[in-house]
Amino acid sequence: MGTLDGKVAVITGSGRGIGKETARIFAREGASVVINDVDEAVAAEAVKDLEAEGGTAAYCVADIRQLEEAKKLMKTAVDEFGKLDILVNNAGIARDTLAGRMSEEQWQLVIDINLTGTFNCIRAASKYMMKKSHGGRVINISSVVGLAGNMGQINYAASKAGIIGMTKTLAREWMRYGVTVNAVAFGGVDTRFTAVKDASEEAFGEKIGIPEKAREGMVERMETQTIFGGMTTPEQAAQCIYLLALDEASYITGNVLNATGGLYM
Ligand SMILES: NC(=O)c1ccc[n+]([C@@H]2O[C@H](COP(=O)([O-])OP(=O)(O)OC[C@H]3O[C@@H](n4cnc5c(N)ncnc54)[C@H](O)[C@@H]3O)[C@@H](O)[C@H]2O)c1
Repeated sequence: MGTLDGKVAVITGSGRGIGKETARIFAREGASVVINDVDEAVAAEAVKDLEAEGGTAAYCVADIRQLEEAKKLMKTAVDEFGKLDILVNNAGIARDTLAGRMSEEQWQLVIDINLTGTFNCIRAASKYMMKKSHGGRVINISSVVGLAGNMGQINYAASKAGIIGMTKTLAREWMRYGVTVNAVAFGGVDTRFTAVKDASEEAFGEKIGIPEKAREGMVERMETQTIFGGMTTPEQAAQCIYLLALDEASYITGNVLNATGGLYM
C-alpha cells in the first residue's frame, strides 16, 4: 500500500533534478505520474527509470511558457490516467547578472518560465481541479531567494517571490474545492541548476549553473549552517514536496515551507 495510491500527479520540469526525484517518490508511493520537460530525451528516460522501479508514468514534452502547451500537459494526465489530483509547479531557470547590467532577455526568460509558466499550469489545471470536493494539491517551487533576495538574481527573486503571492491567492480561491496550495522554498540543492557553469550543459541558449566562486560560497554556507551539513540532495528536497502531497497535509494551505535544513528561518 502506498500513501499516494490512486492519485494522478503532474510534475513540471521533471526530466531531471528535484522534479525527477519527486516523481520517483510519488511513483513509489503509488501515484501515476506525468513527467514533463522541454527535453524529450531526459523525459523519456525518467519514465523508463520510474517504470523499472515498478511505477506508472507517462511523459509530455511541453514548454510551460505557452498556455496551449500547459493545457496539453494537463490533458495528458486526464487522457492517460483519468484525472488530475496533484500539480507540482517545479520547472524553473535562472539567468544571473547584477540588476544594472541585466538584459531584457535575461529578465524576460526567467519571468516567462518561472512565473508565467507556473500561472499557465494553474490556469490549465483549473479545468480539472476547480471541482466540488476535489481535495487535490498544488505545490509551487519557490526559493529562499524569493524571501531574502540575492545579489545577481533580481529576475529570479522577483519570480520566486511572485510565486509566493500566487500561492497565497490560489490557496484562498481553491479552498472551496478542498485543494491545498503551498510553496516550498529551497536553499542550495545539488542539481544541474547549481553546477559549476563552465562545466555544465546548455539550456535556452546559455550554459546552466553558477560561477565556481558562487558555488563554493553556497557549498560553504550549506556545510556550516544546515542540519546535516552539505548541499540539499534532490531526494531530501523531493521528500519535502512529498510531505505536502499527503492526505495528512489536508489542513496545510497557503504556506511556504522553508526546506533549507535550517539555512533560512
Ligand atoms: N537547485 C537549487 O539549489 C534550487 C534552489 C531553490 C529552488 N530551486 C527550484 O527548484 C526547481 C527545480 O530546479 P532543479 O534544481 O531541479 O533544476 P534542473 O535544471 O535540474 O531541472 C529543471 C528542469 O526544468 C526543465 N524546464 C525548464 N524550463 C522549462 C519549461 N519552460 N517547460 C518545461 N520544463 C522546463 C528543465 O529542462 C529541467 O529539466 C526550479 O524551479 C528551481 O528554481 C532550485
